[in-house]
Amino acid sequence: MEKTTEWATALWELKNYLLFLKDSGYSEIPAENIPVEAAEPLPRKAAKEPFEAKKTKPVETPVSAPGPMKERVPEPGAGNAAKLLEEIRREIGDCTRCKLSQGRTNIVFGSGNPNARLVFVGEGPGADEDAQGLPFVGRAGKKLTEIIEKGMGLSRERDTYICNIVKCRPPGNRDPEPDEIAACKPFLIKQLQAINPKVVVALGKPAASTLLERPVPITRERGTWHEFKGTKLMLTFHPAYLLRFYTVENRRNVLEDMKKALSALRDDEPDQGSH
Ligand code: URA
Repeated sequence: MEKTTEWATALWELKNYLLFLKDSGYSEIPAENIPVEAAEPLPRKAAKEPFEAKKTKPVETPVSAPGPMKERVPEPGAGNAAKLLEEIRREIGDCTRCKLSQGRTNIVFGSGNPNARLVFVGEGPGADEDAQGLPFVGRAGKKLTEIIEKGMGLSRERDTYICNIVKCRPPGNRDPEPDEIAACKPFLIKQLQAINPKVVVALGKPAASTLLERPVPITRERGTWHEFKGTKLMLTFHPAYLLRFYTVENRRNVLEDMKKALSALRDDEPDQGSH
């Protein structure tokens, strides 16, 4: 390989790595405590893939016939999800239940349609989310929106609700610690109960492990169905991981997982029948 090409590749990889750290919420470069995935060596072919993928666009098209999901009518007796969510947010208050409260700017409660049939659960706010008080608004959030809107043919605001296992940003964007998850999890459970979705998607290992209450090897278990308190639970990669390892295979895998989530939603759609 020519020297200039090697330099260009190295710089591209470095840029990608720094963007990954930014996606993961780092506002400075840590000397230690880098997530395991980030600490892994860059795959040799990674530098070329986005450009190759652009030519073929293998996974950017919707995995299922797009079209609006049917507007969800709250089931009788299900209560008013929006009102319940407001109550949960009030109960959280100006929370100091765990040490994450010390470094946060905003509590990131969740956003989307309280009557959504599909809920995404991420890990915790990053720098952008902490600043804006909204989940998944940074680069990983843009990728998630793209997965929902371009990949699944849904509307993020109308068809989904998005929240995290912890509502305050972990310092330096380390993984949330067990005591922090324990303090916040009751509110996540209440949110899911209030929304009562048909499908929950756990984004990445911390979300999957929190919901399933065991360490989940996400590369092995993504794409498989589980159950969370009676609701179907699909596991997939976190969008920040996808951005970091932006391979055709990873993107295809995530969209395959989303295709499964979509079919579960479609299977469950109330039969319109003929009158
Ligand atoms: N990553 C997450 O897990 N959650 C967010 O809200 C943003 C990035």
